[in-house]
Amino acid sequence: MQILDGKKCASAYKETIAAEVNAGISKGLRKPHLAAVLVGNDGASETYVASKVKTCNEIGFESTLIRFPETVTQRELIETVDKLNADATLDGMIVQLPLPKHINADEVTLRIDPAKDVDGFHPGSLGRLLLSLPGFVPATPKGIMMLLEFYKINTSGIHAVVIGRSNIVGTPLSVLLSRNQNPGNCTVTLCHSKTPDIKSITLQADIVVAALGKPEFLTADMVKPGAIVIDVGITRVIDPSSPKGYKILGDAEFQPLAEKCSWITPVPGGVGAMTIAALMQNTLEAWKRNTLI
Ligand code: GUN
Repeated sequence: MQILDGKKCASAYKETIAAEVNAGISKGLRKPHLAAVLVGNDGASETYVASKVKTCNEIGFESTLIRFPETVTQRELIETVDKLNADATLDGMIVQLPLPKHINADEVTLRIDPAKDVDGFHPGSLGRLLLSLPGFVPATPKGIMMLLEFYKINTSGIHAVVIGRSNIVGTPLSVLLSRNQNPGNCTVTLCHSKTPDIKSITLQADIVVAALGKPEFLTADMVKPGAIVIDVGITRVIDPSSPKGYKILGDAEFQPLAEKCSWITPVPGGVGAMTIAALMQNTLEAWKRNTLI
């Protein structure tokens, strides 16, 4: 088994991005600028957004964090998005999901100017993805493709099984893996909560992507020897023996799977690190478009 090291791959990408930013700044350009909107105090969202802001600082981006309490209104969020849309010094924005139940998240996502949609969640971005047109690809699937490319994994003609059909990960990733490109050119099966006997399908997979949000759902008996395992899960599970009181578990049972498969992503240090690198890459592309013309 070999590790698909998201931390190492993300570091390489971040170095390249930082070099491009430095070159631009030395030519007199402003810094790339990313804004993040965070609602409430959900622990996982706090961690993700803190990592995004920290990475911005590391690679020479400007970042703006806008926080709201859980009680924020739909109107306040829409007005914030409108203000960010109109800000000519801003290249990209993200509204961290999930949003509280009383908020219509689709309306918020739809309000984001597609030119600033570095999360790639807007229907315009997802439509472009379906048509293989240039546009922002959602950060997690994009990061997984970057990781496969970095490790020169040839996926042409292999069977990919994606578990989970979310708008953010499973659905766009199934499209990317089936595209006529490498990595890509896979025969893709998308499994979800209504799929009977998932194990009978994962056992046929050359690459399995676990993106359903159920800790340690994918077990070693569900994959064939030599398969590639991509673990998208990041769930906090109570662990009194840990100083933080919780541990982070992926959607795959790492150790037994590691003994059986050819490549595997760890959690943490796998897909999560790549999600952030991909978001930075999208923001860099927005900045280039905004400043180099
Ligand atoms: N929640 C979980 N993943 C993501 C992400 O990539 N972007 C945003 N905005 N929210 C998320």
